[in-house]
Amino acid sequence: MIIGVPSEVKSGENRVALTPQAVEALKENGHRVIVEKDAGIASGYSNEEYKEAGAEIESSHEKLFESNLIVKVKEVLPKEYGLLKEGTIIMAYLHFTEGLLGSKRGFAEALIKAKVTAFSYDTVQAGGLTPLLAPMSEIAGHNGVIMGAYHLQTHLGGEGVMIGRMAGCKPAEVVIIGGGSVGTGAAKAAVGLQANVTILDVNVKRLNELNDMFGNKVTTLVSDRKNVEESVKKADLVINGVFFNPLRTRKRIVTKEIVSHMKPGSVIVDIGCDPDGPIETCQETHHDHPTFTCDGVVHYCVPNVPGAVPRTASQALSNAILPYVRDVANKGWVKAVKENPALKTGLNIANGHFVHKEGAACQKMDCHDLEEILKKA
Ligand SMILES: NC(=O)c1ccc[n+]([C@@H]2O[C@H](COP(=O)([O-])OP(=O)(O)OC[C@H]3O[C@@H](n4cnc5c(N)ncnc54)[C@H](O)[C@@H]3O)[C@@H](O)[C@H]2O)c1
Repeated sequence: MIIGVPSEVKSGENRVALTPQAVEALKENGHRVIVEKDAGIASGYSNEEYKEAGAEIESSHEKLFESNLIVKVKEVLPKEYGLLKEGTIIMAYLHFTEGLLGSKRGFAEALIKAKVTAFSYDTVQAGGLTPLLAPMSEIAGHNGVIMGAYHLQTHLGGEGVMIGRMAGCKPAEVVIIGGGSVGTGAAKAAVGLQANVTILDVNVKRLNELNDMFGNKVTTLVSDRKNVEESVKKADLVINGVFFNPLRTRKRIVTKEIVSHMKPGSVIVDIGCDPDGPIETCQETHHDHPTFTCDGVVHYCVPNVPGAVPRTASQALSNAILPYVRDVANKGWVKAVKENPALKTGLNIANGHFVHKEGAACQKMDCHDLEEILKKA
């Protein structure tokens, strides 16, 4: 197969989907790998390293879209829709199951019109986990604490609290809402910095796991209105690791009213980052202007946090996706999907038909029967 690794064109996105080591592994399986010139530079990988790994370097972004299998980080953007070719396989984060109902319909229609087959890393499920989303979530949670600590500095609008322990001084209060992968990454960083850490989750089983993981270094609380309100009001830094499923009720967790009672100069880092989501005061920001202030509280709401640490994030992403990319490249998407149940959960569009039930419902589109498509393919 010809596998293309284009440069990411999304603003502030510096990751590359495959490292030279992953390219080498795919070459060993007999594939031709084409990497766009300078695609890996921001992640610390030179064109020469890719060449040594066996890749061909291509300067034209358009040419990359002639590959049989395109391996990307983020979704295809509108300016790239015209480059899509019938029969191409795309692997990327497509996030059809997030955001407002129908908000990505235009993108879905572009993939359907081009009759491509598209896998979304974020819907791949194995053993009840999301192995291709979890590493990025953990990085986002970890880096969210670093960003929060940075923006607590006075000259950046923060209250001037250091996240760390000083003898005789009150430690910083870090409150993490959602104890999944984002929450775990955030807790590791905040515990490492010796903050007072509270994690709130609606899932008691998950809170038990976090208790086992962190022992008495964290306080775990059920995420009900009272616990959230009391914890957030005393927090120096709040990290949100919850994202509403668009098919369920969108009840705010941290309302504007709660934010108005937070300490002036405290910081909210909204990793879930959905303006209609858990944090009522959330507005999407970008790496070049990452914060705004609302009711005296600094808000950091960047949707692609791992893009700021591309060296680590590209390695983690490439390590996680390689077995799946290899499966699709070696067997073709039909056989790979038939034999690998995790890949099947990642398939969103098959030969131009939406086949992911939840994704289609979120985008208010018809869902086709995958088994029928597999029989005919
Ligand atoms: N901004 C970024 O760069 C970035 C990067 C990675 C992930 N994300 C997003 O972060 C979100 C979280 O990702 P994840 O992988 O940690 O998800 P996850 O499913 O592992 O964790 C979510 C947790 O939230 C808990 N939860 C649900 N409702 C809650 C409530 N009302 N109160 C408290 N907890 C509640 C769940 O029980 C679960 O433990 C996702 O939407 C993901 O897309 C953003």
